[in-house]
Amino acid sequence: MSIKEEIDKLTQELKVYQDKYYKEGISLVSDNEYDRLTDRLIALEKEHPELQHPDSPTKRVGSDLTNDFPEVKHTIPVLSLDKAYSDAAVLEFFSRSIQKEGGALSFAAEEKIDGISMVLYYEKGILVRAVTRGNGEVGNDVTPNIMTMHSVPLSLPEPVDIAVRGEVYLEKADFERLNAAEADEAKKAANPRNLAAGTVRRQKSSEACRVPLTIFCYEGFWSNKAETPSDHLHILSYLRSLGFRINPHLAFFDSDKEKARKKLDDAGLEGEAYSFEEIDEFIKKKTAERKNLPYEIDGLVFKINELGVREKFGYTEHHPRWAIAYKFEAPQAEAKLLDITVQVGRTGRITPVAEITPTKLGGSTIRRATLHNQEYIDELELAIGDTVSVSKRGDVIPAVESVTEKNNEGNTTYKMPLDCPCCHSPVVQVGGLQYCQNYDCPDQVKGRIAYFASVDEMDIVTLGPKTVELLYNAGLLRNIEDIYTADFQKAAGLPGFGDKSIELLQKGVKESLSRPFATVLSALGVADIGKKSAEILVKNGFDSIDKILNAVDRNDTEAFSSIAGFGTVTGERIIRAFSSERLRETIEALRKAGVHMSAEEDEKDEEENEQVFAGQVWCITGSFQHFNPRTKALKEIEKRGGRTVSSVTGKTTHLLSGEGGGSKRAEAERLGVKIVSEDEFLEMLGQEKAETESDENGQMFLL
Ligand code: IVH
Repeated sequence: MSIKEEIDKLTQELKVYQDKYYKEGISLVSDNEYDRLTDRLIALEKEHPELQHPDSPTKRVGSDLTNDFPEVKHTIPVLSLDKAYSDAAVLEFFSRSIQKEGGALSFAAEEKIDGISMVLYYEKGILVRAVTRGNGEVGNDVTPNIMTMHSVPLSLPEPVDIAVRGEVYLEKADFERLNAAEADEAKKAANPRNLAAGTVRRQKSSEACRVPLTIFCYEGFWSNKAETPSDHLHILSYLRSLGFRINPHLAFFDSDKEKARKKLDDAGLEGEAYSFEEIDEFIKKKTAERKNLPYEIDGLVFKINELGVREKFGYTEHHPRWAIAYKFEAPQAEAKLLDITVQVGRTGRITPVAEITPTKLGGSTIRRATLHNQEYIDELELAIGDTVSVSKRGDVIPAVESVTEKNNEGNTTYKMPLDCPCCHSPVVQVGGLQYCQNYDCPDQVKGRIAYFASVDEMDIVTLGPKTVELLYNAGLLRNIEDIYTADFQKAAGLPGFGDKSIELLQKGVKESLSRPFATVLSALGVADIGKKSAEILVKNGFDSIDKILNAVDRNDTEAFSSIAGFGTVTGERIIRAFSSERLRETIEALRKAGVHMSAEEDEKDEEENEQVFAGQVWCITGSFQHFNPRTKALKEIEKRGGRTVSSVTGKTTHLLSGEGGGSKRAEAERLGVKIVSEDEFLEMLGQEKAETESDENGQMFLL
């Protein structure tokens, strides 16, 4: 047998096996035999690519080659749909259309699948291209990934030239399963549509094929008009006969039920028959059924059945005049995307942010929403000028969820700049994210300093992001360590910076010298070491910076990766981060300034603070002048050996009572718990009122 004959034979055999298995669930050969034949065909095709069939079954397996997704022009207009939000609006669409036509019409109703819009182009019956919707004129060619989907025929039983529109989606159960198996929190998808969109754009089709995407096809466009059937129902049955997957949940509307039933029967389709009057009943039924469907739908699509009429009615720039989408609920909020700005964070990560028309959402007006990264923008095929649907994820961070209407200015998918918007050094790709790698990039430097000084880290009062910006621009702060050496007197006279601000800042800086080593470690903002992991490191023997640096110098990844909860990746990242000369300079400068670099120093500090509250149980109520947020008072108690609790019980020994303390105070009185005022508390801490001074404005503050 010649190579060509062997390839032809294997191709034929495997096609039959795949079809039987994926369409009928029947295995004609053992898994081993199937794998052996597939491997053989892959090997032969690799050696003789010119002999590979365009619809070879090996395309289902995918490849490890890196895909790019070139922009290609659609040869059919890929339009969106007009929307209706009530059954009355759908009925109005029916009667408006009938009136315009001046004769009888019937309508097909389909589920509006919440997935990724796809156009499959076939030439002479062979799949040549699968293209995303894009802006309707230009989309991305994602053929290799779509070819791995068993519901997409690679070749058709007839040599037709046809473009087929469908929705690629992932079933809810598959989404839940895959998301649960994803260990990386950051890689978990928000919903099945996002995971499907990400999969469609996977770089390696061998990875895309592991996500069981599927498709429902709903429209066909023939280049030879003579081949076009006469109505929508026949398009669907023809598509089905070509091997496309058609959604069986079809409904059909006519002036009476019997007529509707007959048309379904004529086309050989299962489906529910309705009369126009039953529209509200139908919508109610579908709304109730929605949650039980194995996939997500976001509405229903009503389409004029008669294709001649479709042609007559034509299209607007945005949608066909012969169809309407009923949406289950008004989108959370719609806004126009005015621009995309790009921010540089302290780690150099570059994040695109959507600037949108001010939009009321959940009680506040939002103007900006996160877009995560370029991949997310690509998945949404987001372009400036598009109308977008925004939501508040977890009720806080506004996010762009989807594009509801494409811009008509011809803008294509937004691409992030290739250089850093702050310092203009080249942007580097690291696992789907974009980074500026210039350590001295002003935005990074400011971010690092502000992070170090933030409430959750070194808690340097008054050194917030705005002050950091001011002091950076004045040349006073150019590095974390400058915090301890800068002459802040020089800041006098800067806008909003009086003597009082300087004094407060100096005091905050001085106080930060007593922060425990674990806090210092996390305040450095080194990759992977947050508050929790810093504490874990300290507890696992890395209780001084020198111990960490020694392990780094020995290149001892294992020392870190063997800690429970840390993996090799974390170990390697810690080594890489602490190998940086610049970071080491910072560490040495901080050590010199007196910042804690070991747990031993923490203990010494504690000894100096006598354990005067040992054995006591404190509760706290009301607000305070000197302890803001009031958790600061709790820290003072704990530092001195006291225990703190959140409610007054029989075991409570003291209640620290500030202004406005209500029920807890009453409870303390009832139980005879000692009630301590703020002044008394300060006295107990040894920071009597005498230590409080007033500045020239007569305002009180603690030195
Ligand atoms: S018909 C010209 N039918 O909804 C034909 N669209 O919001 C227009 N969609 O871009 C599309 N299920 O991606 C049609 N049964 C269905 C659909 C459907 C989902 C999507 C499609 C379209 C979007 C419009």
